[in-house]
Amino acid sequence: MKISAATRVLAIIGNPVAHSLSPIMHNGWFADHGLDAVYVALPLQSEDPVAAIRALGQFGLSGANVTAPYKETAAKAADAADDVVANTLRWAPNGALTAFNTDGAGFVAALTEAAPDWLGRARRVLIIGAGGAAIAIGKALSPNVDAVHFINRTRTNADAAAALLANGHSLRWEDMEQGFAEADLIVQATSLGLEDGAAADWPVGRCRAAAIVAEIVYRPLETQLLARARSRGLLTVDGLGMLIHQGARAFELWFGVRPDALAARRRLIAALRS
Ligand code: ATR
Repeated sequence: MKISAATRVLAIIGNPVAHSLSPIMHNGWFADHGLDAVYVALPLQSEDPVAAIRALGQFGLSGANVTAPYKETAAKAADAADDVVANTLRWAPNGALTAFNTDGAGFVAALTEAAPDWLGRARRVLIIGAGGAAIAIGKALSPNVDAVHFINRTRTNADAAAALLANGHSLRWEDMEQGFAEADLIVQATSLGLEDGAAADWPVGRCRAAAIVAEIVYRPLETQLLARARSRGLLTVDGLGMLIHQGARAFELWFGVRPDALAARRRLIAALRS
């Protein structure tokens, strides 16, 4: 692609962002669609991140994704936001900034892709974690299931996440075995399992035979949790699915067209291997 003065600029904003896969994903889609646009990673370090994000609009940025630790900042910086936590920003030609959260819908799309019949199967959900990702997933699943149980190292955070949902509950970290045994869908939504991170000894042996096990971690693509669930014959959903589908929704908000999720998966798996 030839970069010119007319090339539109989009970005992932966070800190750190050097290992983000979003530039590979979006630049791949720009090529698929013949768009004169480029997607870069912007590590933001600022005393006033709200002002820094707003300034990007003054430089003519078209859109951005936002990752830790700026998802709340992004929602605050926007003129209008659909949630208090945002992962997607879109600047209108007049400079007005709108914030969106596509994480929850992205997770549901990934789940539907891997387990098309999940709606009939998942009545009781266990979400491990109570951070931004866990809450976005809980909000998206809540209307479609009987109960959403958050289990979190810090119980008060699980209580707070549960209180956001009509059918939300919290469990003690010590009750992990019971939580696994009673769930139809288990979603690992913490950073546990990340390469070099602490590995948890998940009680996969307690899972129901028809349980679905999903991850948000994608480095490694097959976490210990997924490997053990697969070896038990359980249906699994890897973390790339949510990354790709939240990105596809962001792309659609910017360009009005849904990009090819499978093409992104091929490119991202190649990138993870290299
Ligand atoms: P994100 O926006 O990616 O969800 P976050 O809001 O910082 O990130 O949330 C991180 C989640 O991972 C939290 O649920 C956190 O648990 P606490 O509320 O107890 O902090 C969880 N987490 C992080 N490291 C963990 C660890 N070593 N063991 C258990 N849970 C962990």
